[in-house]
Amino acid sequence: MMRSVVVGVGSALPARVVTNEELAQKVDTSDEWIVQRTGIRQRYLAGEGETSSTLGLAAAIAALEDAGLTPDDLDLIIVATTTPDLTFPSTATQIQAKLEMFHGAAFDVQAVCSGFVYGVSIADKFLSSGSHRRALVIGVDTLSRILNWEDRTTCVLFGDGAGAIILEAQEQPGEIKTDRGVLTSHLRSDGRHGPRLCATGGPSTTGTVGVLTMEGKEVFRHAVGMITDVVYDAYKATGFTSDDLTWFVPHQANRRIIDSSAQKLGIDPAKVVITVDRHGNTSAASIPLALATAYGEGRIKQGDLVMLEAMGGGFTWGSALLRW
Ligand code: ACO
Repeated sequence: MMRSVVVGVGSALPARVVTNEELAQKVDTSDEWIVQRTGIRQRYLAGEGETSSTLGLAAAIAALEDAGLTPDDLDLIIVATTTPDLTFPSTATQIQAKLEMFHGAAFDVQAVCSGFVYGVSIADKFLSSGSHRRALVIGVDTLSRILNWEDRTTCVLFGDGAGAIILEAQEQPGEIKTDRGVLTSHLRSDGRHGPRLCATGGPSTTGTVGVLTMEGKEVFRHAVGMITDVVYDAYKATGFTSDDLTWFVPHQANRRIIDSSAQKLGIDPAKVVITVDRHGNTSAASIPLALATAYGEGRIKQGDLVMLEAMGGGFTWGSALLRW
């Protein structure tokens, strides 16, 4: 059967690193408070000329180089982002143009922090159906551009960045225990929670982008249950358990959410990939950035069983289980 196998990984971060100490000079906060509540020590913030399309493009080029492919080899680009350069055209078509790729299809997916898992799941449907052959899936966000920099309860949490993978349709024997590629994915949403984590504006209402607002405690209260639900969905669909995972690569929102989810799922802490300390919460970029980090360090290797999961605004949440 046709499965979507990862053949390339890349990432890109803005040039500027901002530490907790630097933030503490602008808002009433401290390194101690931020580290204790979130595990975040620093984040990268986009500067002049750095946008979702430039960061996404850099991650895409790195993934193509890693795969030994060119844009001619792709026929699908999916960009998960909540912070597009423009209301339209999509960031995906802008990156397509910058790659000088004049064929195939490119579109954006908006599922906030779950966007990358949504993108992987959608790409997998295209590839496993046989309609497309190679998909570039990018997760990118520049949430710093819609933060309220006077609100210490949100501005300390987020960072900017981009990560990308290339998925290739490959014929596999159809053995769930040994096949490479995306083995299952599970997407969920519940729009009743919209106001708990949202932007205060948009093109069709205020005509502005608004700023990010969040009921942090409510997000926290729902996160662990939602995350574990979709991971259990993946176990149910495949027969795998936490013991079978080689790596658990969660959305990097907050160290406490990650640790609680892993503990509830009975996942050995040594299998959990953590990058929130250095990147902050980069929304749709956090999982591919974490993948690129672990892969770049030689930790994730061919044959590894990797669980991706995320939860974010909407609320949206989802999981994708793949063999590298
Ligand atoms: N520095 C110092 N003090 C702060 C800061 C800050 N940056 N932010 C809030 N405080 C203060 C509050 O004002 C409050 O003070 P008070 O007791 O005098 O009123 C105190 O710290 C405690 O505030 P809480 O909101 O109760 O803090 P809490 O322990 O809930 O931690 C946090 C806040 C970190 C946001 C937590 O709720 C959380 O992690 N929520 C999950 C949110 C999240 O990760 N969202 C990411 C987007 S969604 C996603 O990606 C899954």
